[in-house]
Formats: sequence, structure tokens, C-alpha cells
Amino acid sequence: MVSTVQLRPASPRSTEDPDRNLALELVRATEAAAMASARYLGHGNKHQVDAAAVDAMRPLLGTVAMRGVVVIGEGEKDEAPMLFNGEHVGNGTGPAVDIAVDPVDGTTLAAKALPDAISVVALSERGSMFDPGPCVYMHKIVVPAAAASAVDPEAPVADLIAAVAQALGRSHDELTVAVLDRPRHTDLVEQIRSTGARIKFLPDGDVAGAIMVASPDSGVDLLLGIGGTPEGVIAAAALRCMGGEIFGRLAPRDAQEQQDAENMGYRLDTVLTTHDLVSGDDVFFAATGVTDGSLLRGVRFTHGHVSTQSLSMRSRSGTVRTIDTRHDATRSTLVPAHRRPEI
Ligand code: FBP
Repeated sequence: MVSTVQLRPASPRSTEDPDRNLALELVRATEAAAMASARYLGHGNKHQVDAAAVDAMRPLLGTVAMRGVVVIGEGEKDEAPMLFNGEHVGNGTGPAVDIAVDPVDGTTLAAKALPDAISVVALSERGSMFDPGPCVYMHKIVVPAAAASAVDPEAPVADLIAAVAQALGRSHDELTVAVLDRPRHTDLVEQIRSTGARIKFLPDGDVAGAIMVASPDSGVDLLLGIGGTPEGVIAAAALRCMGGEIFGRLAPRDAQEQQDAENMGYRLDTVLTTHDLVSGDDVFFAATGVTDGSLLRGVRFTHGHVSTQSLSMRSRSGTVRTIDTRHDATRSTLVPAHRRPEI
């Protein structure tokens, strides 16, 4: 009997075939940074936290199969010895990519051993990440995927909250809005409270705050307020992988910064979408918890081991992995060598 089943003809290798997921390699870099910086929790020195994370992350990024250029880094070359903006990283093979690093987002959180300090790296195709230039801050609105098409980013706060509440099928007092706890947000906080919505104040760390919005069980539904522009680009990379939307508008600190930005061609009145901030088709993202938080568990030191918890995500596949890793303190090269004997 002749089979009627149609077999698909063999197709040449295409972009839909499995390939290397660089987010899995990036996790080693964020794990190393988290383990190194976690040594200094509560020591009160955010520079020490950051330096330890940078020192540990840089060599690991050098092993990743990419030809990377740091777009969001530790600052300009003369002020940052490693992971400076424009630095070439990667092993020199593989795709040409832009890289955003935040060896610790929430250095003060780590220095005070407060929740939700994370180590973060994101990649996307070369030329696809927004370069913040002189623009240190931006207004941010982060909404979950279910509300993304319902909100008008230029609407007043009360309308924004109403739109998200309706899209999520909840009343206002069942919504939680994350806001960085800063004096500049006094009016914003009043506007949010007047709608009846609840507020989760973030002492620092609005990358973790943005990821919470896109995480169904985090208890955070929306993020509003002014935070770092580099952190906005990193949050956009995460949202490209997880779903959800960030709307940003550059917020110069003074007339000089405004002038510099305008001279360089930045449009200050334009709302930047997630795709404007990270436009690549293949975005990779990794984050590891430094301190315990509602997003990730922090680094734990036990006899002979160090354990970490990480996220590894890719936009093209939409895969989001939570990775629990146990590092052998004497054998793993990710555990800082000079610290190993102390474990
Ligand atoms: P650091 O880890 O560099 O200290 O940044 C933490 C952070 O809270 C970011 O998450 C946020 O975007 C930014 O600082 C807010 O800046 P500021 O502390 O100046 O309000």
C-alpha cells in the first residue's frame, strides 16, 4: 500500500535550526561577577562591590564566541580600566554584537546587603542597541505584555494605571507599581496613590524592577519613574526576551546636558519603545542574583561550594531558563582564585 503521508523535503540549514545560545555562556560571566561581589555584602563600599564584579566578569566574557563591542559599560576608557564603552570583548569568533554590561545593578544594595542586587549582561546584533550618549536618565514606563497595546505612554499617570488595570482585569488597589525611592518622585508617588494603586519602593535596581513587571508571579504590575538610561536599555533587552514593553523618554539633568544631547542629535521629546532601545532580532540576556530578592536568590557560600541562581533568556526562541548552579569552591575557575582557600 502506498503511504499518503507527505514528508517534508529536507531543507537547507536556516535560522530556525538550533544553534548556539550565547545566553548560556553569558551566565558564566554573571555567575562569576555575582560570586566575586557577594564577598563584600554589607561592607558598605559600593566601589569594592563593583570592582570585584568587573574583575570577575571581564575574563569570562573573553571566552564567549562573539565579536563584541561594549555599548553600555562602566563608562569611558579613561575612567574605567575594564568593560569601558567601546571595548572589544569576546573570543573573536562568532557574531558581531553590541554588549550591555552591568556587573552589579544595585551596587549600594549589595554594599548594604539589601534585596535584588543582580549581575547582568545582554547582547544583540552589532548596531542594534541604543547608545545613551550623554543622557544619564530617562523616564520609564514598564508594562507587562498583556497591557502593552492598551497603554498610551504619553497619557497622565491615572490613565496609564486605569489602562493597565483594565488590561489585567484588576481593580486599582490590586495593582502594584514599582518606583525608585527618590525625592524626584514625590509628585509621581502622590499621583499613583490618588488612583488607589499600591507602591513597591525600590531603594535601587530598576533593572530587577523591570524584570519583575514581566514576571507573572513577582507581584509587580508596572514600573514608573526616572532611572538610568543604560539600565533602561538593559531592561529593554530583558523585555525583548520575556515579553512586556518599556517606554522611555530621555530626561536631561540640566540645560548643559540637554544642549549636549540635542547637539548630538538625540530627540528629547520622542518616546522610545523597547524595539527602539534594542532593535536586534536575536537578543541574549543573563542575570545572576547577588543578594536574595523577589526575582532571584542571592549567592550562598556553603562548605566547599558556592551556589548561584540565574536567568538565561533569548528573544528569538522566547526561552527563559532559571539556572541553579553549585560551584565547587576548589575546582571551579569561576570562583575567584585568590578567595578559594577561604571557603
Ligand atoms: P548602580 O548599581 O550603578 O548604583 O545603579 C543602581 C540604580 O538604582 C539603577 O538601577 C537605576 O537605574 C539608577 O541607579 C538610578 O539612579 P540614581 O541612584 O541616581 O537615582
